[in-house]
Amino acid sequence: MLSLCVQVFAVLVVCAADAANRDISYTFRAWTMVDQPLQEQLAVVYKEMESLKHEQAVMIQKQEALSQAFADCSQKPIDTDVEMNLTSLQTGSNHLLYTLTQDGDGDEDSHEALDPCYHYTVLDQAWRASNYTSKYVTCDRRVQWKGWYRLFYHGKPIQMPERCVMKEMCGTHAPLWLVGDHPRKRDGVVTRQVCGNWKNNCCLFKSPPIQVKACRGNYYVYKFVKPVACHMAYCADINTIVCGKCRKTESCISSNKITWMCKKNQLRIKVNVHFFVTHPASISGKVNRIMYRKEYVNQGKAFDTRTGIFKAPVSGVYQFFFSTQNGGNGATDLWLVVNNYSVAMSHSNVQGNSSVGNLSTYMTTLRKGATVYVSHNRGRSWASSASNTIVFGGSLLMERII
Ligand SMILES: *[C@@H]1O[C@H](CO)[C@@H](O)[C@H](O)[C@H]1NC(C)=O
Ligand SMILES: *[C@@H]1O[C@H](CO)[C@@H](O)[C@H](O)[C@H]1NC(C)=O
Ligand SMILES: *[C@@H]1O[C@H](CO)[C@@H](O)[C@H](O)[C@H]1NC(C)=O
Ligand SMILES: *[C@@H]1O[C@H](CO)[C@@H](O)[C@H](O)[C@H]1NC(C)=O
Ligand SMILES: *[C@@H]1O[C@H](CO)[C@@H](O)[C@H](O)[C@H]1NC(C)=O
Repeated sequence: MLSLCVQVFAVLVVCAADAANRDISYTFRAWTMVDQPLQEQLAVVYKEMESLKHEQAVMIQKQEALSQAFADCSQKPIDTDVEMNLTSLQTGSNHLLYTLTQDGDGDEDSHEALDPCYHYTVLDQAWRASNYTSKYVTCDRRVQWKGWYRLFYHGKPIQMPERCVMKEMCGTHAPLWLVGDHPRKRDGVVTRQVCGNWKNNCCLFKSPPIQVKACRGNYYVYKFVKPVACHMAYCADINTIVCGKCRKTESCISSNKITWMCKKNQLRIKVNVHFFVTHPASISGKVNRIMYRKEYVNQGKAFDTRTGIFKAPVSGVYQFFFSTQNGGNGATDLWLVVNNYSVAMSHSNVQGNSSVGNLSTYMTTLRKGATVYVSHNRGRSWASSASNTIVFGGSLLMERII
């Protein structure tokens, strides 16, 4: 019994020394129990040993993760003699490089519950810039990617390129760029293809897709994964450095994906356009433009009762309807006129004293400012102030954002 006890304490001392080397402060409760019965002291010692073992296991895990992160890359599709070393990896970096473990257990579910916009690792490595070139190349396959990352360039926010980047830039051989645009905030988390440019082929290397999310405050977070091979690295587009200056009310935009600029967000208010007007009296013969004077609905004030012309207030898809009541004996034609072109007819033809109503509809895409009216080409149309037989109406069905 005594020899066992000595052995147990010997192990404890070794562990304690080991733990001290790693800057772990630990109080041994067993040492405050010298007055207690030996049985109880031993139970506590065993318990302490268990937690020390756990501590050690975590240490070993961390160490393995570190050595793996900087271990050699087995796949080498790109010819190179240059090996990445720690010094080159840290060039230009003034932030923490990689967080390997945050809380030890790496529980995926609890991480998913957190918004990545506020839980990311800062990746501030100047060598990732699209204008950086060096003979010391890096490979992101050697990194143990975990969780979400936000790109910086000397402390300034920066984005991944949405275009092909010249080979041997971004501190690597084949720079990885984002295929397709960055998402909008309302898109949430999206999956995007990643391509590596090599041998004049912008997507010679199809790397595994990554997840991207747009965050409030004009920045993006990326869930990076190991690229398909070495040497490839996620690139940071130096031209997007201007995006960090965009205000809350602005967006960072680019028409060519090369030049970026801040632009004030357009406040889009939903436009409602509906009208229904009538001609309260009969019409005979040719009338170039029917002056519908009685207005029932004119939401959006796009129809002008003084001119009889509807003017499209926004670009979009519109539907119109117009009708007549044939005034008897012969043909009556009404035309819908869009931008001075007759596009649809309401025709009726009756014999004798009989009468018929005829309704026509038309749907079209109009540009903002387009004009629409109805002409009375021939015949007779019957209406009274209350009959609502000669009518014209329309609605904007869908606004088109151009
Ligand atoms: C490591 O990288 C640095 C900077 O890129 C370079 O100066 C150094 O020679 C490299 N060391 C080795 C052993 O390759
Ligand atoms: C890359 O662009 C940044 C920002 O414009 C600039 O400060 C830096 O000097 C450039 N680096 C190289 C290697 O051209
Ligand atoms: C339609 O004709 C009027 C009068 O002739 C003219 O002022 C107007 O510009 C024309 N509209 C279009 C879209 O051509
Ligand atoms: C109603 O209008 C349509 C299209 O203009 C025409 O084909 C049809 O003959 C008209 N109906 C009558 C009863 O005239
Ligand atoms: C047509 O109307 C006129 C006058 O209202 C009437 O004299 C005539 O009989 C009517 N014809 C027919 C075929 O109904």
